[in-house]
Amino acid sequence: MVQVTWYGHSTFKIEGSKTVFVDPFFDDNPASPVKVADIEKADVIYVTHDHFDHIVDAAPLAKKTGATLVATYEIATSLAEEHGIKTEPANLGGSIHVDGVICHLVPAWHTTGLGGTPSGVVIEIDGKKIYHMGDTCLFGDMGLIGALFRPDLLLIPIGDRFTMGPRSASKAVGMVQPRFAIPMHYNTWPPIEQDPRRFAGLVQDECPTSKVAILDPGETFTLA
Ligand code: NI
Ligand code: MN
Repeated sequence: MVQVTWYGHSTFKIEGSKTVFVDPFFDDNPASPVKVADIEKADVIYVTHDHFDHIVDAAPLAKKTGATLVATYEIATSLAEEHGIKTEPANLGGSIHVDGVICHLVPAWHTTGLGGTPSGVVIEIDGKKIYHMGDTCLFGDMGLIGALFRPDLLLIPIGDRFTMGPRSASKAVGMVQPRFAIPMHYNTWPPIEQDPRRFAGLVQDECPTSKVAILDPGETFTLA
């Protein structure tokens, strides 16, 4: 059993035999009920790209918990240099085993601040596969990623403007065909306001075998 907690925006805790965080954004995240100071345990931290709303609390959380940070090469090496934290650089197409957790790095279509390339990640933990898409638009190879990994759970941006909106996100669910999908990257600020129920309705038409779970920030989804 793996427990997946959403903290608003793209920030998740994935908890099984190890504790994994993806895109930690707590202290300046208006949606998060939790701050870095409240978090006691982390083993692995994954950062999808270097925009502030995905990376800003990664180094502080790694420092506090001693977690290993996994990211694409440029992000991992620059954070290691700047903050002296433990990192494991990798790149798209690679799979990396860290502390009993496997991170498969997959593409995301987006931009970056410092360079490198944005990524998504399929996290394998305790026999479950969770695909965090990062910030991305819709692209055809999502179908390949779905066929290769058969994710149990998809964490998918629906906020529009900077990522997919509900319509393209529902197409993405149809391509990946996960058992469950949790929408993210919406309602953090007014420019990305969305009704997640609209997304859920579109998914029902596009891919009736995938169930959408709409969480409130701080809420936990149990993946059995
Ligand atoms: Ni971004
Ligand atoms: Mn973002």
